[in-house]
Amino acid sequence: MQIVLGILANAGGVGKTTLAVHLAYEVSKLGHPVAILDLDPQRSLDVFCGLEPVDSQDSLVTVFSKDFKGQWPLVETWQGSRVQVCQGHPYMSSMSDQLVTRRRGEYALADRLRKYPLTHDLVIIDCPATLGMLATNALAASTHLLVPVQLEMKSAFGAAGLIEWCIEVSDELELNPRPPILGIVPCMYDSKTAIHRQILQQLPEITSQLSVTLYPRVRDSKEFKNASAVGLPLQKYRPNHPAVEDFKVLSKDIDRLIQDAKG
Ligand SMILES: Nc1ncnc2c1ncn2[C@@H]1O[C@H](COP(=O)(O)OP(=O)(O)O)[C@@H](O)[C@H]1O
Ligand SMILES: [Mg+2]
Repeated sequence: MQIVLGILANAGGVGKTTLAVHLAYEVSKLGHPVAILDLDPQRSLDVFCGLEPVDSQDSLVTVFSKDFKGQWPLVETWQGSRVQVCQGHPYMSSMSDQLVTRRRGEYALADRLRKYPLTHDLVIIDCPATLGMLATNALAASTHLLVPVQLEMKSAFGAAGLIEWCIEVSDELELNPRPPILGIVPCMYDSKTAIHRQILQQLPEITSQLSVTLYPRVRDSKEFKNASAVGLPLQKYRPNHPAVEDFKVLSKDIDRLIQDAKG
């Protein structure tokens, strides 16, 4: 079995792509080949990976197309890393509309991954901001889910709604087993912001009520933006930056999942 990690949130700008990129890099450094699939029509993953935008036939759009025969359009990213990317494309949003009327539309990505498996130990699905057909595809294709939250009222308490959505949709799609939520990751934590400190303090209670794991927070740092501006993960851009540590616990857990899946 392969680990397919869907990174979901019910808003944009909470740190999904940042989490996808930094986890991919970290887990690859533990010796695992990793693929990131960009389901976001805004294709912000391209920027984080220093990649030029591609035509739709060289993007994930091709994987969804009816005549796909297993030629995943994967490209290398970050020289020397074991991370490959299947790039997104704005046409993904029209694709999303078409999936609504297509037979097994919700399972399109899951079906592709089953019929034409990727060989990577870990596949990370970077989701768009809205919980539409593309997010539903991610859910159906995932073995595990990860939920980044921002430490603002709306986002932190919206996590409960998102988890409910995952459970409801999984049941409707009769996903068996239902992909478990690996955990919640508080993102962009600024210790100087009172509301961040307050919500971070409340999160253990919220997550224990929801029976989900709470991962260590990822701190706020302008270096994340600076790193992505040159298409690099922070680990490569500033290897000694303290925020590099913020992904370690989560990466170790994913490493363990991969080992278990391999048996
Ligand atoms: N921990 C962080 N500290 C500072 N800026 C961050 C952090 N995480 C993400 N950002 C920035 O916030 C913006 C939104 O993050 P992104 O990962 O693209 O969110 P999403 O994928 O959920 O839309 C980006 O400009 C990103 O560089
Ligand atoms: Mg994103």
